[in-house]
Amino acid sequence: MKISQNPSEMQTKYLQLKDINGMESKEKRRQEKIETKAEDENERKKVVVDVGCGTGILSVFCAQAGAKRVYAVDASEIALQASEVVKTNKLADTIIVLHGRVEDVEIDEEVDVIISEWMGYMLLYESMLGSVITARDRWLKPGGLILPSNATLYMAPVTHPDRYSDSIDFWRNVYGIDMSAMLPLAKQCAFEEPSVETITGENVLTWPHVVKHVDCYTITVLELQSISTRFKFQSMMRAPFHGFAFWFDVEFSGLEIFSASNDAPLAIESLNNHATDGSKRKKRANPSEALVLSTAPEDPPTHWQQGPFVVWSHLTFFSPILFARVLTQSNTLIYFYDPIEVEQDQVIEGSVILSQSKENARFMNIHLEYASGGRSFVKESVMR
Ligand SMILES: C[S@@+](CC[C@H](N)C(=O)[O-])C[C@H]1O[C@@H](n2cnc3c(N)ncnc32)[C@H](O)[C@@H]1O
Repeated sequence: MKISQNPSEMQTKYLQLKDINGMESKEKRRQEKIETKAEDENERKKVVVDVGCGTGILSVFCAQAGAKRVYAVDASEIALQASEVVKTNKLADTIIVLHGRVEDVEIDEEVDVIISEWMGYMLLYESMLGSVITARDRWLKPGGLILPSNATLYMAPVTHPDRYSDSIDFWRNVYGIDMSAMLPLAKQCAFEEPSVETITGENVLTWPHVVKHVDCYTITVLELQSISTRFKFQSMMRAPFHGFAFWFDVEFSGLEIFSASNDAPLAIESLNNHATDGSKRKKRANPSEALVLSTAPEDPPTHWQQGPFVVWSHLTFFSPILFARVLTQSNTLIYFYDPIEVEQDQVIEGSVILSQSKENARFMNIHLEYASGGRSFVKESVMR
């Protein structure tokens, strides 16, 4: 009996058919997997709001880092340039520029991330932290991320003989002429108002004191109206004590939610690549470790080397233009009219109150009381 004309041919056909079916279902499974992965990835992508986007550069970084959508909000006309930047970089599908105040614009969804370059001189002067608080309370998802996540304002007593000499001692002998009659006026001109300048670690007399720690997740507008603290320092050297320096650092914690869930490079990491000469950044071996940027005086004295700071006084972290301006120059100095000679271990104590001016909400009043070597002083100044 002829069972088959050609069994081996039938078998081959059967096998081929089986194989095609197998391939089809394999392909289907592969396709389903791709679709699920794409959905998952899309699901994991973040919605971001850039509070006070300015030129829009942070929004662009976020889009490049894989954000699903970025709302770039700015109250001023710069929003028009931000729109152009977005178009030029072909990111109009991802970045929505909103020209208006954060307090007034509408965003019809909750956001995963708030990013903002809100810091001002002395951290809080003319700062936009109030608008970040508004954005947080209006749109941030429970468990969402705020970048930077917290900030700390520090103060320390400083010695700055060169600065004093250039501004004051100069008048004692000008081309052989005794112009010391100018001294009171020169002191007033040079030291009445806070001055924004760069100092080094050699100017600092001892470890700093924390004036205010800002947790961006919990801070309230009310808390910002007046900040006060008592301090007690012990000078680490014998030196003329010329005044107090203030500086801040900002911390970016929670970045692992990007690295853990998204293959795209971190906005933060890609920004770091833009650091210009002289910038230093902390390398994060562990992505869950917070990234800290500081305006602390560079080159702290040797006794500081094991200190808690990551020192990056020239870091251009966000916008090469604007952030650099704030970060590189933001040691705020409050000088006395006359220096106090302090010995090693001499105690310097007192209090400082930073408050919003009633005369102009943009101004900051600084009330400083300090005592050392049995003498006490008060210095009032206005940051305007
Ligand atoms: C320091 S700049 C930000 C610069 C920006 N990150 C960049 O790199 O160009 C602060 C911006 O916040 C904007 N701004 C201030 N208050 C605001 C508010 N209440 N709502 C929206 N934008 C605000 C200002 O117009 C300014 O452009």
